[in-house]
Amino acid sequence: MDSASGLPTLAVIGATGAVGAVMLDLLSTRRDMYGEIRLVGSDRSAGRILRVRGRSVEAVPLTREVFDGVDIAAFAVPTPVAAEWAPVAAARGAVVVDGSPAFRSGPGVPLVVPEVNPERVRERPRGIVAGPGCTTLSMIVALGALHRRYGLRELVAASYQAASSAGRSGTDTLYAQLEKVGGDRALGNRAGDIRGVVGELGPFPAPLAMNVVPWTGTPAPGGWTSDEIAVRNETRKVLGLPNLKVSATCVRVPVVTAHSVAVHAVFEERTNQREAQEILARSPGVVLCDNPETHEFPTPSDVVGTDPTWAGRVRRSLDDPRALDLFLCGDNLRKGAALNTAQIAELVAAEQTG
Ligand SMILES: NC(=O)c1ccc[n+]([C@@H]2O[C@H](COP(=O)([O-])OP(=O)(O)OC[C@H]3O[C@@H](n4cnc5c(N)ncnc54)[C@H](OP(=O)(O)O)[C@@H]3O)[C@@H](O)[C@H]2O)c1
Repeated sequence: MDSASGLPTLAVIGATGAVGAVMLDLLSTRRDMYGEIRLVGSDRSAGRILRVRGRSVEAVPLTREVFDGVDIAAFAVPTPVAAEWAPVAAARGAVVVDGSPAFRSGPGVPLVVPEVNPERVRERPRGIVAGPGCTTLSMIVALGALHRRYGLRELVAASYQAASSAGRSGTDTLYAQLEKVGGDRALGNRAGDIRGVVGELGPFPAPLAMNVVPWTGTPAPGGWTSDEIAVRNETRKVLGLPNLKVSATCVRVPVVTAHSVAVHAVFEERTNQREAQEILARSPGVVLCDNPETHEFPTPSDVVGTDPTWAGRVRRSLDDPRALDLFLCGDNLRKGAALNTAQIAELVAAEQTG
């Protein structure tokens, strides 16, 4: 606890990354719940001056000592770094809030979305609380609200994922490719012509500019990707539905930031379009944007930089009165990562300050 303020000391691990930058913005704009805030990066960025809460703070390298006196450690680092260092932070007395995949499926680690299952945050025998991945987070707040009314039975989801969910290198690669193809009207007419000019593929397995890539994550058994398996496991864990039928197809699209997900959800109860829209409209963390007459629906370019999940195109299935189809959009760096981590950290901070 910060002795001057009596408030918890927070460390942000990965403060210099894509998620970390949004975390600093959120810490500067949300309710101030912390005393000291320590900002941690790799050796590469040690000494860099970052801005948080209107102050300049020097980034320090990741060491064991950095956790001394830390009450809450928010991790926004690659999976192997989180896997190695989160237990170190927990052993030194910090409550870890991890946004990486390292602990999401682990036993003894709650997977928390504060709008859906905030009570789980206290069940942390290992001192670690995890948040789901950005694809699950782009739909789970809206889906959770509908589940509470109708009882979710089956989920089919197709994602349209932005480049920035592959970190800074994802964003850099998309911009570099867009520069190379920009304005060339000869491109997009012959197989392989775009591949020929984009150069480096970066973290993507195919050109992303002027293209869509039906692959995000790493290979998983049966032809699935790790992201698709994650959507299934995380949705089950957050909603407490271990046998939920889930089928996901994850697709990368040439959008800088903000994921979209097309959802077909089958419920136990009969659904009603108007009622489902009303449920979404009054759910905290969801904004309904749904008017077919005026072409109102969420798009990534309209929602990027905002906090909520945006819901539109809400339809009752034509062939199954128990099913709803809808289109969801959300900023993968905000609710999809940094905001969810910040919200969990605030729950822990509220515990610590009584
Ligand atoms: N991007 C998204 O939309 C998103 C969504 C949900 C979850 N996540 C998860 O959030 C985490 C961070 O993602 P990101 O997109 O922010 O990645 P990023 O832009 O590549 O940033 C990675 C951060 O980790 C730090 N780091 C890397 N190696 C380190 C080491 N050995 N020791 C200490 N710090 C180290 C980097 O520090 P330097 O700047 O010094 O290199 C940087 O601050 C990942 O686990 C990712 O899966 C990301």
